[in-house]
Amino acid sequence: MSTEPISSNSATKRKKITTLTFRQKKEQGQPISMLTAYDYPTSLALDEAGIDSILVGDSLGMVVLGYENTLPVTMEDMLHHCRAVARGTQYALTIGDMPFMSYQVSVEDAVRNAGRFLQEGGMDTIKLEGGRERLDTVRAIVKAGIPVMGHLGLTPQSVNQFGGFRPQAREAAAAKRLLEDALLLEEAGCYGIVLESVPAQLAELVSKELDIPTIGIGAGAGCDGQVLVLQDLLGLFDRFTPRFVKQYANLKVEIMETVRQYIAEVRTRDFPGLEHSFEMTKDEWQKLIEVLK
Ligand code: KIV
Repeated sequence: MSTEPISSNSATKRKKITTLTFRQKKEQGQPISMLTAYDYPTSLALDEAGIDSILVGDSLGMVVLGYENTLPVTMEDMLHHCRAVARGTQYALTIGDMPFMSYQVSVEDAVRNAGRFLQEGGMDTIKLEGGRERLDTVRAIVKAGIPVMGHLGLTPQSVNQFGGFRPQAREAAAAKRLLEDALLLEEAGCYGIVLESVPAQLAELVSKELDIPTIGIGAGAGCDGQVLVLQDLLGLFDRFTPRFVKQYANLKVEIMETVRQYIAEVRTRDFPGLEHSFEMTKDEWQKLIEVLK
């Protein structure tokens, strides 16, 4: 095992992040940074900033497409946005999130759809939700050579089963079940597991029990990495903000202030200024006047 530090933030020495880097980071106690992105300019910015991993989440449905939840998101929606993100990403490990009904119906369907994320979407890996009920699917996708990230806890595609977006595994029996699921997913071949909205002590325990990294969202600081939905972190999506989100900026307000300034300048004709316009030469202008006479 290399003892060289794995620094994804050094501008001089950037290497493509792989699933192997994920494992090495865990072994060396270096937290993994992950954010969601859904388009080309954003993925360019995240990649240039040094993020370890970009998840094209099916949260796309809520924070970009305006749906109530993630259930209406289709394979075609996901692939369209994955392609844009892939074009903007050079170093980060990319993860395409398998949408509702793209892997639940049959193992064959799941393998075919997982393959489309790599072949048509340009992703490095895929993510799917669920524990013991997904083991055959995970095994088959991994067997096809496609790295799989698991997702346990609050799995948004089961929102109707949970009766809303609620924290999970707060009682001992459910917590034990989640730990078992995590171990089973690791055994089935997952290279990492997202833990969403679960108690911090449990997430820390799961992280210690697994050799593969855990990526937490609302799961405390004991995970091997952290992920947030970019729109939440930037303050671009205020329909609801989970308690676990840290809003690092308020871009919605900044966008509104900028747009108000633009509207005002259009109305007062301060925009466009001379520096934003160009003119015909005097000769060409004169010719035009002659022609129009
Ligand atoms: O869809 C998504 O963005 C996700 C993250 C919240 C982990 O699954």
